[in-house]
Amino acid sequence: MRKISILCICIIATTFIFGQSSFSFVGPDKEVNPYSYIVIKRGEFKQAAVSSAHPLASMVGAAIMKRGGNAFDAAIATQLVLAVVYPQAGNIGGGGFLLARKVNGELIGIDYREAAPEKANRDMYLDKNGNPQMNLSLAGHLASGIPGTVAGLFATMPYAKLAFEQLIQPAIDIAAKGYVLTEKEAANLNGVRESITKNSTQPSAFVRSIKWKVGDTLVQKDLAATLTRIQKEGARGFYDGKTAELIVAEMQRGNGIIGLNDLKNYTAKLRNPLSFNYRGHEIISFAPPSSGGILIAQMMKMVEKYPMSKYGFQSTKSVQLMIEAERRAYADRAEFMGDPDFFKVPVKTLMSDAYLSQRMSDYNPEKASVSSSIKAGIIKESEETTHLSIVDPAGNLVSVTTTLNNSFGNRTVVGGAGFILNNEMDDFSVKPGVPNMYGAIGGEANSIQPGKRMLSSMTPTLVLKDKKPYIVIGTPGGTTIPTSVYQALINVIDFNMSVGDAIDKPKFHHQWLPDEVAIEPDFDSNTKEQLIKMGYKITPRGSIGKTEGIRILPNKRRETAADKRGDDSVAGF
Ligand code: GLY
Repeated sequence: MRKISILCICIIATTFIFGQSSFSFVGPDKEVNPYSYIVIKRGEFKQAAVSSAHPLASMVGAAIMKRGGNAFDAAIATQLVLAVVYPQAGNIGGGGFLLARKVNGELIGIDYREAAPEKANRDMYLDKNGNPQMNLSLAGHLASGIPGTVAGLFATMPYAKLAFEQLIQPAIDIAAKGYVLTEKEAANLNGVRESITKNSTQPSAFVRSIKWKVGDTLVQKDLAATLTRIQKEGARGFYDGKTAELIVAEMQRGNGIIGLNDLKNYTAKLRNPLSFNYRGHEIISFAPPSSGGILIAQMMKMVEKYPMSKYGFQSTKSVQLMIEAERRAYADRAEFMGDPDFFKVPVKTLMSDAYLSQRMSDYNPEKASVSSSIKAGIIKESEETTHLSIVDPAGNLVSVTTTLNNSFGNRTVVGGAGFILNNEMDDFSVKPGVPNMYGAIGGEANSIQPGKRMLSSMTPTLVLKDKKPYIVIGTPGGTTIPTSVYQALINVIDFNMSVGDAIDKPKFHHQWLPDEVAIEPDFDSNTKEQLIKMGYKITPRGSIGKTEGIRILPNKRRETAADKRGDDSVAGF
């Protein structure tokens, strides 16, 4: 096992009394110590594995499976811990998608995407001249959709084995007694200090008089109380009673529109997962209201008939082909994709061989296509989301991506309840057909309507090989999510890489508009020069995605990897 220790913080408190049941494995000198933990990037585990954005969350997921829980139990507990230790994207104020395959072959898709409140309307972010007011859809109370995460956790419970009270206890312990901050976490909190202060109406645990530094302990008493209400009352502990009243009071103080009825009426929905074949592998991913599953199906099917492995990893030939597939898939996104309960998404056609080969009929391996000659549109998305991948001893696979949209969502902490709300309303087309502040266009398919779910790019994905469980994967990254999953899968399947290498390799991203290829700093410079000669505009950028993956090897060991790009970490046994 390769360990990268970026953090080893002394135990600073030993007198706290953490929970006392057999699930009291969180505390100083216990299996999961919030005051001293390390980041582990890769591991090979015999039975069970978790990869997530934070070491404490992964460790709790593994500890739950050690105590008899399955991958669903672990997914619930891991998400709840992320809501405490990863406030930029882990959440109870946001939403997500869970994709799973039970060991008996049953596929499960749970959609707990946020929804537009009943008082929302198509033009709610336009000023009197019809111009979008992006400040309103991005920050503050009006930017929030109705949170779905807690409903999603309870929709997962029928597949779990342990009691919810046990699964939420580690998150309560860590919120109540605190955890130490890594350098990155301290910097992140300092970075949003001003905007959280500006957008929240009451003080919160995230803002204090002095700056945060590595090794400080973040205690979240209000969040612990909210989690305890959920522990005692179930989903009603969030969507009804005191927590719901606190959310609505926060909305009223900040001119938001989420009301008690919105919260009471919110439900998670079951969605049939999408499947397609790629070079003998069955790839399973999420259906609308996420665009992710359709996009990876389109991109992978468009390159399948070319000898990718012969072209070579990130050779000019393979990258150029993959870019052209990305361009064409993303061009379809805004025109044809939205909440399927409000807009008929032509899923079958978009994924069909005939349609996809026609889409590539004008592909020229010698030069760049031009986006202006390819119809349809694209919308923008924030890149702060989070993903967890889990395999349990029985072979159940769970892949979950959740989000607040922007890092720290709408930067509004619910007064007295201690959690941050999402700014997912900005994932709708705020003004259909008109470019937004990023120059991107969204369509009518994704216009705002009360109760509708905004289009997502989240792509929790599973792969079967020879009909047996093979890979669990997913990533944050807004519109770069599908390209990251697509490239990581191609790295494993066509270029024969381990899941860790596949994830860590440099990424590139084209989303039709703007007509440019974003590349990570370590992208091959020769390939970059060749692409420029072929007519591509190359835009260097920071990191793309934080992918978490698990591959089941022929000897059944779980090859587990957490992206090198963050504090992401694996755990297992
Ligand atoms: N907010 C990011 C996504 O849903 O794709």
